[in-house]
Amino acid sequence: MRLLVLGTGRMAENHAMHFGAIDGVSLAGGVDVDPNNLSAFNAKFGIANAFPSLDAALAWGEFDAITNVTPDSIHHPTTMKAIAAGKHIFCEKPLATDYGRAMEMTEAAERAGLINMVNLSYRNVAELHKARELVAAGTIGTVKHIEASYLQGWVAARDWSDPSIEGPWLWRLSKGHGSNGTLGDIGIHIVDFTTFAAGTDIASMNCRLQTFKKVEGDKMGEYVLDANDSFIISAEFDNGAIGTIHSSRWASGHSNDQRLRLYGDKGGLELSHGHWGSLLRICTGADIAEGKWQEVKAEPVQTNYQRFAEAVRTGVQTEPSFRHAAKLQQVLDLALVADLDRGEHKVTA
Ligand SMILES: NC(=O)c1ccc[n+]([C@@H]2O[C@H](COP(=O)([O-])OP(=O)(O)OC[C@H]3O[C@@H](n4cnc5c(N)ncnc54)[C@H](O)[C@@H]3O)[C@@H](O)[C@H]2O)c1
Repeated sequence: MRLLVLGTGRMAENHAMHFGAIDGVSLAGGVDVDPNNLSAFNAKFGIANAFPSLDAALAWGEFDAITNVTPDSIHHPTTMKAIAAGKHIFCEKPLATDYGRAMEMTEAAERAGLINMVNLSYRNVAELHKARELVAAGTIGTVKHIEASYLQGWVAARDWSDPSIEGPWLWRLSKGHGSNGTLGDIGIHIVDFTTFAAGTDIASMNCRLQTFKKVEGDKMGEYVLDANDSFIISAEFDNGAIGTIHSSRWASGHSNDQRLRLYGDKGGLELSHGHWGSLLRICTGADIAEGKWQEVKAEPVQTNYQRFAEAVRTGVQTEPSFRHAAKLQQVLDLALVADLDRGEHKVTA
């Protein structure tokens, strides 16, 4: 697979490292509207061809697939062009800025018969697959109660307010810049993490969002810093379980931590993951009475990068697909609607 890297910022380095290490994959070219990012990236990864726009790269055309690592709002227009040109596509999350656009991308890719995948990167975590396997095998029985969180502390830590890194952070903080805030940035990951392990999707939900004041005037240059910082989703799942999924960028002390707790009629399962690693444990059978938890180890799994390369080689579509990511996108859209509805009761006492 000759791969074009579209968008050569921070996350693209991961793509180049992982794809570059796969046998039979070559990094054919880089594309970025920022010439400094592009030249530094191409030099670092020994990529020979550089393009200032996707149009220029498509006119050249010497590649089979594109990895789309542009900011969220750029995914849709560029992916639609890539599909029209017949290129297989691996796109960063969230697939689009809304469900309508995500479905447009899904249907176009499926119609064209192109391999389409979204980088829901926690699918690379072996313990997540093991958790799904344990739940599917009935180890904890029917899941009744779910609690999940994804916590980051970078807004509280003020890393983002350094002007030298304004670019990468600004588009995460401003709706005008195409951001869906915490929901779009990490909410999509924790909804996937939860539903993948539990083996059941969200059926209906409520949501509260909050945006907190960050700087005087709440602006960075011309952009208002209005994207959501925290969310709390309360949901009912397809199997009847209820649960809460929440997330914040104000969680001091957490650089990037996910936690999932699933409780069924035969036991409990807890999965924690962060830069430090993963811990999966279960409490079942006789251990329930004593509240004893046993750690479960997991065998390594293929990464999304490896799955995509294999799908392009074999022509067999794999997960997580655009269609799956579009479904998650609808959950994010509904979270915004639910936050406006506010079907809730005020405590008056
Ligand atoms: N899967 C994950 O865990 C994960 C982690 C981090 C980021 N991401 C996603 O990766 C994407 C990129 O994030 P990032 O942190 O690398 O951002 P970034 O700002 O560091 O990089 C984005 C790059 O895209 C370039 N760009 C912007 N518009 C472009 C266009 N029209 N054509 C070509 N290049 C263009 C920018 O100049 C920049 O170099 C986002 O969608 C983000 O949500 C995913």
